[in-house]
Amino acid sequence: MILPEKVTEAASVIAQQEVAPDVFRMELSSPAITELAKPGQFVQVRILNGDHILRRPLGIAECDRTRGTFSLFYRIVGSGTRDLSLLVHGENVNVLGPLGHGFDVSFQHPLLVGGGMGLSPLLSYAQAKRGACDILMGGKNAGELFWQSFYAPYVEKTILTTDDGSLGSHGFTTTVFPDIVKQETYDGVLVCGPEIMMRGIARLAKAAGLPCQVSLEKRMACGLGACLSCSIDTVNGARKKVCKDGPVFWAEEVFA
Ligand code: FES
Repeated sequence: MILPEKVTEAASVIAQQEVAPDVFRMELSSPAITELAKPGQFVQVRILNGDHILRRPLGIAECDRTRGTFSLFYRIVGSGTRDLSLLVHGENVNVLGPLGHGFDVSFQHPLLVGGGMGLSPLLSYAQAKRGACDILMGGKNAGELFWQSFYAPYVEKTILTTDDGSLGSHGFTTTVFPDIVKQETYDGVLVCGPEIMMRGIARLAKAAGLPCQVSLEKRMACGLGACLSCSIDTVNGARKKVCKDGPVFWAEEVFA
């Protein structure tokens, strides 16, 4: 049987929890999308409560194929995500996905590097490669590193940095990266987070001779490659769509 690449599905809320101020984890019952999803892909969520026309792109964080559920993390940034956060067990959203190209899953022992909401799609990779990855995560302060408990079941080693020194090493992910990759034998680096962090890690990975993939975030409308709202210029001058050609790209393709 040939499976479709993506489907539209009514998904009911299984769980909703505020995991940090204004950051929520939502678990959705969505068997068809859960079955199809690959690490690093995203869904377009239509919020049915309130008056929301556009779908919201959100990275798939974890999949439970036995139960047919996947989780999403999102930050409240406007009325759409505010209304999303009000949904309770049993209420529905409409979900289109899985969308885009995810991470290369052929790495044997990659280092994941993430910051902010970029730690959400990387979690799907850690889950899929259970025990094979280490995670280097950075935040402004200890409160931003609530992610470590979500990664703990899936990673071998967690390395933390904070801008204010309140947890882990004082500094940025780029501060500690060169020493970390000298101490371990990694075969690749996967990054998602603020662009300045992704550019910095991509440059350091290249210097260390490690292949590097980055997951880009862009404003999206259709999520299907039709509206061009997510177009970017690549290094060789070709225009690419983050929603369809990405969101995951090889670093050298998008960062000079
Ligand atoms: Fe429409 Fe990418 S969001 S082309």
